[in-house]
Amino acid sequence: MPDAPPTAAQLDIDPADPRYGFGVDIGGSGVKGAIVDLSTGELVGDRLKILTPQPATPAAVSETVGTIVDHFGWTGKVGCTVPAVVAEGTVRTASNIDQAWIGTDPYALFAQHVRAPAMSVLNDADAAGLAEARYGLSTEQLAGVVILLTLGTGIGSAVLLDGGHLLPNTELGHLQVGKTIAEKRAAASIKEANDWSYAKWAEELSRVLREYEKLFTPKLFVLGGGISRKTDKWLHLLDIATPAVPAVLRNTAGIVGAAMAAEQGLRP
Ligand code: BGC
Repeated sequence: MPDAPPTAAQLDIDPADPRYGFGVDIGGSGVKGAIVDLSTGELVGDRLKILTPQPATPAAVSETVGTIVDHFGWTGKVGCTVPAVVAEGTVRTASNIDQAWIGTDPYALFAQHVRAPAMSVLNDADAAGLAEARYGLSTEQLAGVVILLTLGTGIGSAVLLDGGHLLPNTELGHLQVGKTIAEKRAAASIKEANDWSYAKWAEELSRVLREYEKLFTPKLFVLGGGISRKTDKWLHLLDIATPAVPAVLRNTAGIVGAAMAAEQGLRP
């Protein structure tokens, strides 16, 4: 691995130093991990990305997580996201990963491959929400109900209340909107698959966001995912009543939020 990211030792970082954490973000196409400076919310050195094993079974993916953690020589706490509902120590759904995840205990699973004194496993969008609340959004922006959405292969959601308190596992991407669920209507992947213009996609996304407005009366939408890098092309096209801003942390939010969850000992 000639251009492999530097290890904790090379960075002169002690994994026991509470200033630093480690996050892993499991996605449909890649598993990404990095050391996080929890005082700034920034990655220290580069992240390591390994293609998600196919099929993305619990055994194969957890082995990949172990490989990433080991690469960095990380021996401290580890946070890890999954694109799924995690409640009471059990993975309850599996949208873009193998169905075999459903019903698994992720802690028992990761313990076989990850040498960490403590782990936190949580939904990927929830992790992004935690990270945006701490490092991206202002105190004013965090007043009331804030809905963060990750627009990618699917739609992930994090619902935050008064200063960034997370209501976990909201799965708003699976809300039925018209004849189809929200993420099949307006995820970034749907725009791509149908070769839609930004205008057409913004129409569909607006329809979804208006449903969320009806249910939650949010003060703010925070829109993340790769497509949030190009908000100049589409944010102004949204036909909604609520202000919407692009996510600040972009593609590091999952990793950073995972590290935060481990730091806080969160186990949704
Ligand atoms: C999953 C969510 C996940 C989102 C983004 C959805 O299909 O159901 O759990 O947060 O994709 O990865």
